[in-house]
Amino acid sequence: MVMGIFTVAIVLLNIIELSNGAITSGYQRKSEPSMDLPLESFPPPPGHSAPEQVHITQGDHEGRGVIISWVTPKKHPGVVTYWEAGHEQKKHKTSSKTTHYKFYNYTSGYIHHTLIKGLKHDTKYYYEVGQHEVARRFHFTTPPPVGPDVPYTFGVIGDLGQTADSNQTLEHYVSNPQGQAMLFIGDLSYADDHPFHDNRRWDTWGRFVEKSAAYQAWIWTPGNHELDFAPELGESVPWKPFLHRYSVPYKESKSTSPLWYSIKRASAYIIVLNSYSAYGKYTPQYSWLEQELPKINRKQTPWVIVLLHSPWYNSNNYHYMEGESMRVMFEPWFVEHKVDIVFAGHVHSYERSERVSNIKYNITDGLSAPIRDSSAPVYITIGDGGNVEGIANNFIDPQPHYSAFREASFGHAILEIKNRTHAFYTWHRNHDNEPVAADSMWFYNRFWHPEEEPSTIR
Ligand SMILES: *[C@@H]1O[C@H](CO)[C@@H](O)[C@H](O)[C@H]1NC(C)=O
Ligand SMILES: *[C@@H]1O[C@H](CO)[C@@H](O)[C@H](O)[C@H]1NC(C)=O
Ligand SMILES: *[C@@H]1O[C@H](CO)[C@@H](O)[C@H](O)[C@H]1NC(C)=O
Ligand SMILES: *[C@@H]1O[C@H](CO)[C@@H](O)[C@H](O)[C@H]1NC(C)=O
Ligand SMILES: [Fe+2]
Repeated sequence: MVMGIFTVAIVLLNIIELSNGAITSGYQRKSEPSMDLPLESFPPPPGHSAPEQVHITQGDHEGRGVIISWVTPKKHPGVVTYWEAGHEQKKHKTSSKTTHYKFYNYTSGYIHHTLIKGLKHDTKYYYEVGQHEVARRFHFTTPPPVGPDVPYTFGVIGDLGQTADSNQTLEHYVSNPQGQAMLFIGDLSYADDHPFHDNRRWDTWGRFVEKSAAYQAWIWTPGNHELDFAPELGESVPWKPFLHRYSVPYKESKSTSPLWYSIKRASAYIIVLNSYSAYGKYTPQYSWLEQELPKINRKQTPWVIVLLHSPWYNSNNYHYMEGESMRVMFEPWFVEHKVDIVFAGHVHSYERSERVSNIKYNITDGLSAPIRDSSAPVYITIGDGGNVEGIANNFIDPQPHYSAFREASFGHAILEIKNRTHAFYTWHRNHDNEPVAADSMWFYNRFWHPEEEPSTIR
């Protein structure tokens, strides 16, 4: 019966065209309460104090470094053994920095972070965390050397959480062999939605994403659910669990905070910003970004991709205009430096904008409408990982002209950079099979090929 209704919903899948080509997909995911999967759904691995929650991220600016992180319930020396595939006789050992924290009445396990630098590009490595009978083995492949025509494929997920929908999102992504690294747009575990910010939910989330995050770099963006600011619990230092658990190479890009930084990976220059740290003039984040954007060499990394949590162009009633103050500060720079794509999360839905800007605005001139701008980025809101808070299915009607496509469904995206001029982008809703693209677009690079992109293939 349920299956029958579901099939009818798919058959009736209809697309409503509005003026200016803006599309609100008629596909409506059925509203149902989302619940985090039980704690027992994410058991620790077997073995006494076995390493768990293994995840990796880029460890330097160019892609020859990796940071390997994991947790052990008991105190162990954090040893990583690693070797190049096919060279098992030549093993290297490194030790890690170990930390732990308390949050209200929760005490974390021992959190290990190991930075390995100077790896070969485009090379498969095996690594083992832990020693003896509880050692666990994983592998990763380093990115090719940075260069203008290096093809590379990124996955994109935001606002994941740990529900059955979250599991479907991640399972779909993992089933696609193309994704080489993950752009994660913030809001990880949603532990803070539980009483006392139950930090065991940080542990279960770490176990949940290990099937991908231990094998490819996940590039972390901070979201509001990482703040864990709870003075009522005596926890008034923001970001505590997140910063203990997730290590990023911020110093490599001269950032003074792990909450904003940049990396180069293949042909992409990726800038991570924090919607929840000060960004007004003279602030550390503002000064860093002001110096960062002119450093980008498009002849080396043609693709400029910005990750930030709270969207600037959002036509959903949820979190409407929360990104506005940051847009006012930084949008002129994004247009001046021809940023290709901005990924945001936060709104639990999917939306892709036209290339628009709204940088003429000043307080006296009354010019404040977004206009088509071929130097402007495309803004993609992809906060649709499928978390405990459910879907954001309340779009503003009529659809504004700057919004190209929007749909209230859970899913993830794949960005395939082909060369310096072309990248193919697809969004995959959970209710379809992975190969189905519910939204797709050929991106033309703003530096090398700033032509208008053809109307989208759907
Ligand atoms: C996640 O989904 C996969 C595939 O459907 C399933 O095998 C697995 O048990 C699910 N995990 C959880 C924790 O429910
Ligand atoms: C923390 O406090 C809450 C509320 O009093 C309680 O339910 C929970 O069992 C406590 N957890 C620990 C680890 O003491
Ligand atoms: C504000 O906009 C008006 C109209 O474009 C312009 O004449 C004026 O110089 C602007 N003010 C500032 C301070 O930039
Ligand atoms: C770049 O990739 C696109 C899409 O695959 C292709 O059509 C184009 O010819 C490529 N450009 C070059 C210079 O190879
Ligand atoms: Fe959020």
